[in-house]
Amino acid sequence: MLAGALSATRSAAASGLSAVASRRGWVFGSAVRLTQLQDEPALRAAVLRECAVFTPEIDLKWDAIEPAPGRWSLGNIDGLVGFASEHGKTVRGHTLLWHRSTPAWVDQRLREHRDWRLISRHFASLMPRYGDAITQWDVVNEPIETGHRMDGLRRSVFLEAFGPDYIRRALVEARTVAPRARLMLNEYSLEYDNREERDRRYLFLKLIEGLKRSGTPLDGIGLQGHLDLRKGTVATSSIAGFLKELADMGLEIVVTELDVKEADYTATPDARDRMVADEVRRYLDTVLAQRGVSGVLTWGLSDRQSWLEVLEEDYRRFPGAWTKGDGPGLNRGLPYDAGMHRKPMYRAIEAAFHGR
Ligand code: GLA
Repeated sequence: MLAGALSATRSAAASGLSAVASRRGWVFGSAVRLTQLQDEPALRAAVLRECAVFTPEIDLKWDAIEPAPGRWSLGNIDGLVGFASEHGKTVRGHTLLWHRSTPAWVDQRLREHRDWRLISRHFASLMPRYGDAITQWDVVNEPIETGHRMDGLRRSVFLEAFGPDYIRRALVEARTVAPRARLMLNEYSLEYDNREERDRRYLFLKLIEGLKRSGTPLDGIGLQGHLDLRKGTVATSSIAGFLKELADMGLEIVVTELDVKEADYTATPDARDRMVADEVRRYLDTVLAQRGVSGVLTWGLSDRQSWLEVLEEDYRRFPGAWTKGDGPGLNRGLPYDAGMHRKPMYRAIEAAFHGR
């Protein structure tokens, strides 16, 4: 693990996944909302037992903290950071710039005035405030989009307002405001060998190489790790090659949002859990074998909090599979089921951390 990486030492719980992870120098954590911790004692206990680090699921996003100009709403993130500190945990700074959590008023002002001061003010309002508690920030979330531009940059409001240089500027700005923070880019769909994900890996690497070549302060890369059984199985050798390139550039690598979208909801729950666990094991065995990897976070601990749903199209793929009144239940792509029982995915993560 790299020096100064997501700290594993201070906060490892006595038992649970973070304890297992910490033996090999990794951290384990999960996304969570303050309100979930307040409302659900069993989840709160599991989070404390399993996690060394939390990602604020929504509490730190720009539209959550400043929904209208100057109308700050920092109660939830302050509460989450306080909870973490009280229990010896750390928090990931997710996320400063993301096209999907930019409040409408910011979007409009950026399009009209192209004024970088809005970005500076945003970073300066948040980064020093959580200076000691949040040491690692996703400065830009999801900068890549295929199918539009040769450089693969997403056509976001930031690109439209400031041009392709906005990513470098954002990282430089973040370094100025928070000189000791670890600065990251966080990205999705980098795991499979379909045409789009091959392009995404290539374009993302090109972007990162350019940033490093120009001396931009970039410390690490977040791999969201939203696995998807509809896409087949993860492309282990492509992932290994991709991560080697990142590690060769001296970057820290974190799996930031691991979960699994299922493909076959007609199988028995046991079979479904096995397919999820097998895919997680394949993925983590590959990732954890690479240099530079400092930890793994899931996007929630229990299926009940998952953003992944059984979709209309999933039902359509299996016509007649469910009679009126029954159905496949929740997507089962997280370590705990809705009743807070550990599933095979939990054991897969544990075994991957053990390396056996
Ligand atoms: C993306 C974002 C996260 C979260 C998830 C799922 O991966 O980075 O913040 O919103 O989607 O909702």
